[in-house]
Amino acid sequence: MPSAAILEVRGLTKRFGGLTAVSSLGFEVREGEILGMIGPNGAGKSTTFNLIAGTYAATQGEVRFAGEQILGLPPHRIAARGVMRTFQHNRPFGGMPVIDNVLVGAHTRFASGLWAVVGGRALREETQRRKRAAELIEFVGLGELPHADVATLSFGQGRLLEIARALAGEPRLLLFDEPAAGLTLAECERLAGIIRGIAARGIAVLLIEHDMHFLLPLAQRVAVLNFGVKIADGLPEQIRNHPAVLEAYLGSHAAA
Ligand SMILES: Nc1ncnc2c1ncn2[C@@H]1O[C@H](COP(=O)(O)OP(=O)(O)OP(=O)(O)O)[C@@H](O)[C@H]1O
Ligand SMILES: [Mg+2]
Repeated sequence: MPSAAILEVRGLTKRFGGLTAVSSLGFEVREGEILGMIGPNGAGKSTTFNLIAGTYAATQGEVRFAGEQILGLPPHRIAARGVMRTFQHNRPFGGMPVIDNVLVGAHTRFASGLWAVVGGRALREETQRRKRAAELIEFVGLGELPHADVATLSFGQGRLLEIARALAGEPRLLLFDEPAAGLTLAECERLAGIIRGIAARGIAVLLIEHDMHFLLPLAQRVAVLNFGVKIADGLPEQIRNHPAVLEAYLGSHAAA
């Protein structure tokens, strides 16, 4: 039995002046599902993420999360409902150890109020969060490094930190924007395992990726964008051989 859609996008449109970056886009993602999103440069993939996360205001459309409209909410309110993201470029908080970077993710969602501080609850919560952050660091494979300064991390380790930080916010939906970009083959394999593990915990995953070799074995379904329009969606094996996809996305690679 497929679970209910946690994210439902309908007629989503974003114009920047005369340019329609996302055009009447519709799709859904279910709990524990990995939906892949591919498309050439400028297809509107990151813009779609920015609309879902509330970073950009939509021109038109609907984004329902857990049955409620979230379009128009500020980004921190959307995050508080359980929509977390990683960025196309790593964004660590410099000069801080790995564990504190992960804790920042927890604080974006759970801020203790004054009364919690007065009652001593904040301290207990902080202890809980630290324990949880250490578990997440372990989960992404940085278990040796909780106290390392983020400045000393390799690029690939920085990517794993981003994921741990997003998980600290206890997402129900996790948006990945090209997580494999710049990683070595071994790092890509580890990342694929982590993403599978995240979905296995029941978290819905929306995964933007240029690298089809990485994405197709990982995603349960794939949506293809071109010039802001969804030109195809289906199972990975359908997408692999879809004529419109080969033409629009693979282009010269397909010919080669
Ligand atoms: N803030 C903005 N202002 C104006 N135009 C924008 C803005 N953000 C994106 N665009 C334009 O919208 C279109 C879609 O961009 P977007 O970043 O969503 O593409 P993408 O599919 O993520 O591409 P890539 O694979 O290169 O990351 C592009 O033409 C881009 O130049
Ligand atoms: Mg992008």
